Amino acid sequence: MIEIKNLKKNFGEKKVLKGINLIVEKGDRIGLIGPSGCGKSTLLRCVNLLEKPTEGEIIFNNNDICKLSDLSNIRRKIGMVFQQFNLFEHLTVLDNITLAPIKLKIMDETTAKKEAIKLLKEIKLDSYANSYPKELSGGQKQRVAIVRTLIMNPDIILFDEPTSALDPEMIGEVTELISTLANNGMTMVIVSHELNFIKSFCNKVAFINDGKILEIGTSKEIFNNPKNEKLKSFLSKIKNK
Ligand SMILES: Nc1ncnc2c1ncn2[C@@H]1O[C@H](COP(=O)(O)OP(=O)(O)OP(=O)(O)O)[C@@H](O)[C@H]1O
Ligand SMILES: [Mg+2]
Repeated sequence: MIEIKNLKKNFGEKKVLKGINLIVEKGDRIGLIGPSGCGKSTLLRCVNLLEKPTEGEIIFNNNDICKLSDLSNIRRKIGMVFQQFNLFEHLTVLDNITLAPIKLKIMDETTAKKEAIKLLKEIKLDSYANSYPKELSGGQKQRVAIVRTLIMNPDIILFDEPTSALDPEMIGEVTELISTLANNGMTMVIVSHELNFIKSFCNKVAFINDGKILEIGTSKEIFNNPKNEKLKSFLSKIKNK
């Protein structure tokens, strides 16, 4: 579905991604782990072109999307969910969800609203349609943010630490929704420091260190039988926390 080839990203003199190669197949649930600052968020942001890669290719549906000038279609097909939800505080839940499909003329207003209510019903938040984000809990906000991505009917969703801004009691409702989407066949790449979730949920896990993937394998291989010394030390530090 997506093939990332020799992806590099520099910010000025600073080399952040140093040649990432990664294949995402349809239905994959890929976990990205690694120390703070290793480039996980930058990698996700490059994949949906929030950042322009310095070098390399991102092949999506047989096209190198780095070369495209119209990005709206790509952003629609490659959804992204952020740690801080990024909802518009001045818009209601319903308007947050329908804004993009109406603006991009994917749906007329009536259809978009109908679709948004249907999705909100599925996550039992339809009674909050006319509420503002500040009236929602963190877990509810994140589920609305996920629905906002879903209404665009994406082929893949990138999650950047979707639960790390949440109070512990709200993590479950968000991971449950993510699991439901995965069971329905959604392809996803997830950055998370919740290694237990990554371990049980992801079919493939990549360990990133200093802008490079040092090891990639099944969840079992990475967590139960790590080979790379830096991965071993990363895992043992987390276990001992
Ligand atoms: N817009 C930017 N301008 C300059 N440097 C940046 C920018 N975005 C990220 N960086 C740098 O790139 C490096 C990687 O950052 P990134 O946010 O991708 O790390 P991360 O692996 O997601 O870390 P964390 O686990 O803390 O979220 C960091 O050193 C960061 O300071
Ligand atoms: Mg990050």
